[in-house]
Amino acid sequence: MRSFITCSALVSLITSVSATGVLLPLYVYPSAEWKDNAANWKPVFEAAKAHPDIDWTVVVNPNNGPGLSGKPADDDENFVSGVSQLNAIANVNNVGYVRTNYAKAPMDELKANITNYANWASYSAADISIHGIFFDESEADFDYLNEAITFARAAFDTSITTVCNFGVKAAEEYYGICDIVIAFESCLNCYGLPQYEGKSTLNTNIPTGYESQGAVIVNQFNGEDFEGNTADASLLTNYAETIVGHGIGWYYFCPADYDDITSGPVTVLQNAKSLVSA
Ligand SMILES: *[C@@H]1O[C@H](CO)[C@@H](O)[C@H](O)[C@H]1NC(C)=O
Repeated sequence: MRSFITCSALVSLITSVSATGVLLPLYVYPSAEWKDNAANWKPVFEAAKAHPDIDWTVVVNPNNGPGLSGKPADDDENFVSGVSQLNAIANVNNVGYVRTNYAKAPMDELKANITNYANWASYSAADISIHGIFFDESEADFDYLNEAITFARAAFDTSITTVCNFGVKAAEEYYGICDIVIAFESCLNCYGLPQYEGKSTLNTNIPTGYESQGAVIVNQFNGEDFEGNTADASLLTNYAETIVGHGIGWYYFCPADYDDITSGPVTVLQNAKSLVSA
């Protein structure tokens, strides 16, 4: 008697998802002209769609917060269009901007802004739900930030991403409450401000063991870096290699200020390309 052994092939799906994603402060108004389908954000939609293997965390910021109208998308059709298009892209996660003013913003105001973002999910004509909170100007005040983050996690119906922008090295305890910690934010090489120094910045600013939650954001990527290298796409790719090699969770290099996502050499698309080739 012969026995037949059915071997079910174990198919392991190995996807090459980069461990490092793009953390984009999208401080650009969505539209150049009223109701133009968020034309100003189109480069972001295109870059994210062109690189579905890269995760994007995109910071939505109507007005240093959710806007003054108190309504979802600040009652602005251009934000409705922009945010719903972000939500339609699987590898994009959005977070809403609030500003803690170095732990001095009144807690009630902060909480009201968080509640406002949570309410964007109630908008019925389009999916403009927000999926996390970006705490700008975070300060080493654990109780303040912990209260705000605990409130935020309860305010949303679904699990959210919390991003804390310290801009400088943060103590390990903050990695316990913030999903993502921005541990360096500065110009590439501006007089009087911290320079981005590649590996040494990563080693100094991000505690060992927390790399995957760490983020670095560099603006004014032009001129030369700290070593005199020209700020071009290949320098960005070099930096991306180091960042990926260190297992850093998130990065973004901005050509000028955050309202500029299309100037060369480091457009939003180039940020994704450099990660892919790193
Ligand atoms: C709350 O949102 C308003 C409107 O966008 C903004 O002006 C204010 O700075 C925000 N405050 C905080 C603490 O986020």
